[in-house]
Amino acid sequence: MALYTSESKDRVREAVDFLELVQARTELRRAGPARYEGLCPFHDERTPSFGIDPAQKVYYCFGCQASGDVFTFVQETEGVDFKGALELLAERYGVELQREAEDPGEAERRRHTERLRELLNRTTTYYERYLWESEEAQRAREYLKERGLGEAILKEFRVGFAPSAWDRVLLASRRGGFSEQELYATGLAQRSKENGRPYDRFRSRIMFPLADIRGRVLGFGARAMREDQRPKYLNTSDNDLYHKGLHLYGADLARPHATRAGQVILCEGYTDTIALHQAGMRNAVGLMGTALTGDQVGELARMAQTVLLALDADSAGQEAMLRASSLAAKRNLELRVVPLPAGADPADLIQRDGRGAIEAAVEKSVPFVRFRVERVLAAGDDSSPEGRDRMIEQLRPIFATLPPSAMRMELTRIVSGRLALPERMAETLLSSEGANQARRPGGTGGARGAQGGGPSASAAPAQRGGEMTRREDTERAFLALCIASPEEGARALAGLDVDEHFSSGLLRRAASRLLEGDLREPMSEAVPGSVPLESDPQLKGLLAELVVEAGRERADPVMLEVQRLQLELARVDRQIQRARNQESGDISDLAHHRAEVKREFDRAYGRVLEKTGERT
Ligand code: UTP
Ligand code: MN
Repeated sequence: MALYTSESKDRVREAVDFLELVQARTELRRAGPARYEGLCPFHDERTPSFGIDPAQKVYYCFGCQASGDVFTFVQETEGVDFKGALELLAERYGVELQREAEDPGEAERRRHTERLRELLNRTTTYYERYLWESEEAQRAREYLKERGLGEAILKEFRVGFAPSAWDRVLLASRRGGFSEQELYATGLAQRSKENGRPYDRFRSRIMFPLADIRGRVLGFGARAMREDQRPKYLNTSDNDLYHKGLHLYGADLARPHATRAGQVILCEGYTDTIALHQAGMRNAVGLMGTALTGDQVGELARMAQTVLLALDADSAGQEAMLRASSLAAKRNLELRVVPLPAGADPADLIQRDGRGAIEAAVEKSVPFVRFRVERVLAAGDDSSPEGRDRMIEQLRPIFATLPPSAMRMELTRIVSGRLALPERMAETLLSSEGANQARRPGGTGGARGAQGGGPSASAAPAQRGGEMTRREDTERAFLALCIASPEEGARALAGLDVDEHFSSGLLRRAASRLLEGDLREPMSEAVPGSVPLESDPQLKGLLAELVVEAGRERADPVMLEVQRLQLELARVDRQIQRARNQESGDISDLAHHRAEVKREFDRAYGRVLEKTGERT
């Protein structure tokens, strides 16, 4: 169920100054009646291929195909979900959001969550003050200083200290009007197994607040201060608010820097993250002691296109890297590995050798595949044929992830040098598995280890690609022109059969929505009987793209007519083809109709040529 009413969404959209919103991310200049252009904020480029329509409030990039509206723009640049974007914009542009009538249970749950958030936030403040002001935290302050972490950066991360007493948070929260249930729900207190009495869960520990991407505290990572304290880090357990594996430490602070740099650094720990930020690498986030999850990879992908892995190369970090790579392949994420001295994490390295050392390491990052190949070569035994064969075995799945490329050639060269094999020979040995797969009909399945498929997986769609995309291009162009000339567009659209004239489900959804809604407001939510746009991101992206496309040129009803006739011609051709295939004999009616459409088409096309003065 949608949380806010569709009128609310439309009112927010209306209130947004889209030009201003986008200008904060990239410089734009006027490039057409309804178009501004600039460098794309979503990918790295030198010449502008990013455009917006400031009136319709949509964007589209011809380079990376990023597209969307005010909400997706904020989702992508701020790393929030739809609801977050809506709330953020509503606040910024002073629009009051109206909730859909909420059932009482739901309203209650929401109030409950809000209270838990408040409790966590207050407690964070409490721990912070305790770290900086209390006598008891003296040792913690010294320790943090010894670790090279300064006050300013610790304050930014809201690091604190939990008192050693059993009941400080308990008492303070009770005074603040919070119940025991609420304390349990946040994981701040627990009940004694012996006497059932509640007590503070975190005591005598340095407190690292774990926040979501919007900076709201959800839980804590708490580092032991005394030798006898176990575990070294005590983390908030999963509860209604905090789910480990969903978040990255420091993501809220790193996000804008990562987006700007196009790179995000992933390290293992809390101290690593803070140390990196202090060393000026503000695009660093931490893993918080979990195995990397798909959700976290998604989060990384929303921040930047390139992930620099600054993980321990020898243990869990390895595992995390492999997971990252198989998850990254699905998302077009580039993974690079930052070479760290054995046994040193970024925090150690910075403290030992200064920030120059970590900068140099980041500078020397290598693509993940290269790192993997080099590791196999470094660890393997090349003194016997069996050893070399084993290395080839281990290398083959790695090479299976590599399309034909300069990188592949270079890595093949490295392997051939190291194993003393002629290059051709190395090439064959390393690729035999890929070659087998390519020969297998269908090319799918079995490619498990291939991480999103090597050459074999991508071959199939490419073959039928040309024809399909040409047809889709025509259909898209037609819809864009409908938007450019809404009145004629509405008539033209009404004359078509959505199922017959449009080839893909997506284009059909777009055509239906435009037909039922208002062509002047293609992004409006107020379309009778249709789903909210945020639940169909593909459709939303396509509509935005069409609007931007429409804004590139002046409205041209004649061109619209040409496109309509072209769609009709294509449809009749398909019908004729079908009739032929079924050998159902008589196609004369169809042929007659086709000739008529073709004549009309030629006439309309002639008018277009006349207008552009390019008469043939
Ligand atoms: P490390 O043991 O490498 O800790 O664990 P660290 O961050 O370098 O901490 P310092 O430098 O000793 O202070 C790496 C990360 O693994 C998680 C924490 O997120 C930690 O930052 N971890 C570690 C736990 O969750 N629990 C533990 O008991 C240990
Ligand atoms: Mn450490």
